[in-house]
Amino acid sequence: MFQSLSALPADPILGLMATYRADTNPKKIDLGIGVYKDESGHTPVMTAIKKAEDILLNSQTTKTYVGPTGAAEYNDAVGLLILGQSLYNSLGKRRVTVQAPGGCGGLRLAAELIKKANSDATVWVSSPTWANHIPLLGSAGLKIAEYPYYDYATHSVRFEEMLACLSQVPVGDVVLLHGCCHNPCGADLSQEQWQQIRDVALKQGFTVFIDLAYQGLGDGLDEDVYGLRLMAEALPELIVVTSCSKNFGLYRERTGALTMICETPEAASIATTQIAAAARAMYSMPPDHGAVLVQMILNNASLRHEWNKELTEMRNRINSLRAQFVKKLQSIGVEQDFSFIEREKGMFSFLGVNVDQVQSLVKDYSIYLVNSSRINVAGINDDNIDYLATSLAAVLKK
Ligand code: LMR
Repeated sequence: MFQSLSALPADPILGLMATYRADTNPKKIDLGIGVYKDESGHTPVMTAIKKAEDILLNSQTTKTYVGPTGAAEYNDAVGLLILGQSLYNSLGKRRVTVQAPGGCGGLRLAAELIKKANSDATVWVSSPTWANHIPLLGSAGLKIAEYPYYDYATHSVRFEEMLACLSQVPVGDVVLLHGCCHNPCGADLSQEQWQQIRDVALKQGFTVFIDLAYQGLGDGLDEDVYGLRLMAEALPELIVVTSCSKNFGLYRERTGALTMICETPEAASIATTQIAAAARAMYSMPPDHGAVLVQMILNNASLRHEWNKELTEMRNRINSLRAQFVKKLQSIGVEQDFSFIEREKGMFSFLGVNVDQVQSLVKDYSIYLVNSSRINVAGINDDNIDYLATSLAAVLKK
């Protein structure tokens, strides 16, 4: 039977990670997959996670099943983190949060629910969007369309075109927005732009879907959910998928969630039964370990303080790397203007070079980045910034 299968190319992001690992060049630089790296190029386990793991090791008394919607304490803690206390209170039982196997698992759950609610729905994604959005949502059988988002020439959001496109999206369709730290371009919406999108969503009646994978890595834990809270306050319905991969450094533990805000508590309760059935049919129940650590940290003042401090250091490091990289390129005489990198948010920015130039960086200099020219800024450090800047300068001159 399996003779009929044909081989597929490697995933554009995960494949790059494998090639980087196999490269023996001591000067190699990994600007590919979106993982946080410290000054030594290491992706550490956060201190608060280590401490919570120590406590858990000595206190956990059972590993019995949890259930398809995951742990209630985790679900509440995540709901509170994204919404803040007052919105969390006012939404009450109109809001339901369900633990999921990472952000990807949450996206897939959301896709299943959208499909059940309206099998005809089109999901509108930004152009460009995260490389896995279209395969992931598409493989659930949803139709996908794109709205204009990033202007490669001006390195900013094509907001007028985006708004014009969204003004045509009908009720029954879904618009997927990046909550903060847009992946891949790093260009985020301003507060005024979020307000305008909220107004269009209210007028048109489409469903807003927010993918929030980087809360705390842009401007701050509360600042990064400005748009999400604006939507949650105003709209009758909202879908939010969150990930703890980056802001808790829990990548391989697959810790995420799907939050639904429904028009009524009854609708939310019905949606929960559908989500539970979808989870049961796909993977039965989400993995526990990461979620229990997140719950412990968010519900313990001292662990939470420690986590917040480390997250702040990570965010500040990324923001200062953005500034340093721009300065370095200027100081070695690169004529192109890269100042947009300093204005963008989160882990990613496009270098804005073409595929041949990307391939030259990869093959001639062992500098790994996605073909779109997306770089993970956190991969830059004091030891590699000179090599990176001079290699880029050389490739730009070719
Ligand atoms: C990325 O965009 O690099 C990360 O979100 C990792 C992934 O799974 O693609």
